[in-house]
Amino acid sequence: MYCSHPHRYGSLVYHRADADVEKSVKWNVSGEANMPTYNFQVNGRAVSVESWDPSQPLLYLLRNSLDLHAAKFGCGLGQCGACTVLLDGKPVRSCLTPVSQAAGRKVTTLEGLGTPENPDPIQAAFIAEQASQCGYCTNGMIMSARGLLNQTPHPSPDQVKQSLAGNLCRCGTHTRILAAVMKASKA
Ligand code: FES
Ligand code: FES
Repeated sequence: MYCSHPHRYGSLVYHRADADVEKSVKWNVSGEANMPTYNFQVNGRAVSVESWDPSQPLLYLLRNSLDLHAAKFGCGLGQCGACTVLLDGKPVRSCLTPVSQAAGRKVTTLEGLGTPENPDPIQAAFIAEQASQCGYCTNGMIMSARGLLNQTPHPSPDQVKQSLAGNLCRCGTHTRILAAVMKASKA
């Protein structure tokens, strides 16, 4: 049955598009429905995830199906940036990105940026500038900054501020975050 009302899961609101699910459902020989599958790349690896709901947030599948926990659940409403990942190199809020939108595309999470031995320049700069307090916003900040430097390798401080304006930091680490991104842009 199709329901046009949003369903609430925790603080997350999204619409089930049951009509779309029905279109993509395949039936096996015994008459049972196979769950729709979505194929995409995550951190350079081909993945295949199952979901009955094409509007299920990418964030849920990253964390719950793929065990990638760097993207955080903050507001669930696209307002804090804690869940930021890259989709084809551009920052998106994974709490608002339907899994169907990721199909056939490249997703990068913080886990795919660097390693402790070989960090991404932005990760190295965040460490050097000690640009983190509680750390809840940090992963999303780094992914947004990576998206900015992908497009604009040498941004001005104002461009950095503008790009990170949608990433909230309740600890007030903004000055150090700005210094870290500027440092990374010169690395
Ligand atoms: S959890 Fe996605 S923007 Fe806040
Ligand atoms: S370091 Fe705590 S929210 Fe940013």
